[in-house]
Amino acid sequence: MITLVKLIVTISFSYLANSSSIAAPLAESKVRNSEYVSIALAERSKERAFQILENKCNVCHERRNRRRVFTMGNMDSWAEKVYKQVFVKKRMPKGKNIKLTSNEYQDLLTWISSSKTNNYGN
Ligand code: HEC
Repeated sequence: MITLVKLIVTISFSYLANSSSIAAPLAESKVRNSEYVSIALAERSKERAFQILENKCNVCHERRNRRRVFTMGNMDSWAEKVYKQVFVKKRMPKGKNIKLTSNEYQDLLTWISSSKTNNYGN
C-alpha cells in the first residue's frame, strides 16, 4: 500500500515537473510573440505615417523647408515637433491647399505615440 502511494506521488511529481518545464518556454515564447506583434504594429503605423508625411508634408518641404524632409530614417526624431506643429499649434500642414483627413490625423497620432513608447523602451 505504502509503495503504491509512493509510486503515485512520484508519478505526479514527475508529471508536474515535466509540465512546468514544458509550460515555461511556451509562456516565454508567448511573451516574445506579443513583443514581435507590437513591434510589427508600430512598424506598420510608422509606414502609414510616412506615406502621409511624404504626400502632405514633403511635397512642400522639398521646396520650402529642405532641412525638414521626412524619411523613414529621420521621422521618429521629428515626432515631438510634428506633434507640436500639427496638433498643438495647428500650423502644419501650412497653407489652405493641403488638408489632413481625420484618418490621417489619427494615423499620425498612432505613430507619434508608438514612437514615444519605443524611445522610452530602448
Ligand atoms: C505648403 C507648405 C508646407 C506644408 C504642406 C507643410 N509644411 Fe511644414 N513647414 C513649411 C515651412 C515653409 C516651414 C518653415 C517655416 C515655418 O516654420 O513656418 C515648415 C516648418 C515645419 C516644421 C518645423 C517647425 C519648427 O519647429 O521650426 C515642422 C515640424 C513641420 N513643418 C511639419 C510639417 C508637417 C508634419 C506637415 C504635414 C502634415 C507639414 N509640415 C506640411 C511648409 C509646409
